[in-house]
Amino acid sequence: MKTGRVTIFDTTLRDGEQAAGAGLSAQEKLQIAKQLERLGVDVIEAGFPISSPGDFEAVQLIAKEIQGSTVCALSHANAEAIDGAWEAIREAKRPRIHVFLSASDIHLFYQLKKTREEILEMSRDMVARAKGYTDDVEFSPMDATRTEPTYIYQILEAVIAAGATTVNIPDTVGCAIPQEFGDLIEGILNNVSNIDKAVVSVHCHNDLGLAVANSLEAIRRGARQVECTINGIGERAGNASLEEIVMALKTRNDLFNLTTNIDTTQIYKTSRLVSELTGFIVQPNKAIIGANAFRHQSGIHQDGVIKKAMTYEIMDPRTVGIPASTLVLGKLSGRHAFKERLAELGHFLDEEALSHAFRAFKELADKKRAVTDRDIESLIAEELRTASEFYHLDHVEVSCGDHSIPTATVRLIAPDGQALADAALGTGPVDAVYKAINRIVRVPNELTEFTVNSVTEGIDAIGEVLIRIESNGVTYTGRGAAMDIIVASAKAYMNALNRLLAAKKARTE
Ligand code: KIV
Ligand code: ZN
Repeated sequence: MKTGRVTIFDTTLRDGEQAAGAGLSAQEKLQIAKQLERLGVDVIEAGFPISSPGDFEAVQLIAKEIQGSTVCALSHANAEAIDGAWEAIREAKRPRIHVFLSASDIHLFYQLKKTREEILEMSRDMVARAKGYTDDVEFSPMDATRTEPTYIYQILEAVIAAGATTVNIPDTVGCAIPQEFGDLIEGILNNVSNIDKAVVSVHCHNDLGLAVANSLEAIRRGARQVECTINGIGERAGNASLEEIVMALKTRNDLFNLTTNIDTTQIYKTSRLVSELTGFIVQPNKAIIGANAFRHQSGIHQDGVIKKAMTYEIMDPRTVGIPASTLVLGKLSGRHAFKERLAELGHFLDEEALSHAFRAFKELADKKRAVTDRDIESLIAEELRTASEFYHLDHVEVSCGDHSIPTATVRLIAPDGQALADAALGTGPVDAVYKAINRIVRVPNELTEFTVNSVTEGIDAIGEVLIRIESNGVTYTGRGAAMDIIVASAKAYMNALNRLLAAKKARTE
């Protein structure tokens, strides 16, 4: 039986962030990177420095701050990009440069207009250039699953000879089927003469819903690094999901006999943070971290789980950090119980933030019979959002109905502490609120997405609003939570506007 350890390479901040509408600021990326470090990720792909000044800044920030994980920067196979990637990560404790270049005839003929010989030479030369900066160099022949295997063997042999220490096999378009992808990995291990000098990695996209299956089959056949993202976010249908791969390896250790460095109890928290900051909601039936992943609806299942959890549960929810909560807080719960609950959920607030959050909890508990963990998570997320804002929503009031013109009055607290009030009419109450806010904040933008969800079941549930706005071609996500969905909508808009203003400020600075 095989033994050993699988390196977990997280690309949430690079391939995940590439997903349409993610739009993270450098500070938000750092916040995610720190959580990935706590999760125990071996390699954090922090971004693609040459792609934009914002990405360069974020990678540089992460490289300076992260101590426990290798920090990797992606680079095109050209000198300028490699020099830029190195510039961004040079201060990292463990820096890695990841060079990629297309390898399939489809890409060579239609996109790059280069011959196989030219590609081979560029790959070798650019790996050698990266090696001049750091010992830790990764190379990816892009679109590998649509490339003739013998040509991949040649490229890999050349880049390993030039110094690549990891060779990554991407299923860029997500077309592979497990058996076939496993054969490709086995072929590489058997036919590349110097493969013992590099780690074989895989990077699977989910266009056919097979990214995790392909990754696991590759690991079974000998790959020892897997590239993945939290919640499976990424280009198009996304990347292989980190939590699914890690929990498959752990739960079916009888089959794989492999370990990872991941502290699985940090999975749920990481998933919530990524969802919160990117604005990509996790579907309820998502494996491992979806709201229904550990819920048993049918009577037979409930009966079995009550008698013995393992009758219908293959994982203990606590192993992924979902607290097995028996304690439901209510209006009589004190500050101590609230603090304990927060700690169990992984939130450790300082005294001032705790007092603020406790006041918000009491207000909620006055309106809601039972305050669940999801309510508390939503409340804390709201606290964190308002901690770093320019304009604060102080008051919102609407008048609407089937025979009246929707009207909104809002009052905001400006950065200098001044209270600014205005009113507007709209086609509906949310439109009126947004127009009233626009009369004060005056930043041109377009609303491109608006979604309302309830945090828990029941008529007294908290409503969570997710919006996206676009300004100068950049998307900003905003979230807001309140029992009144108009108030939640106003908060979400303020959150998006505040993120837009923060990005504008960072650019001018
Ligand atoms: O999907 C892909 O091919 C990539 C490479 C840059 C590794 O993301
Ligand atoms: Zn990719």
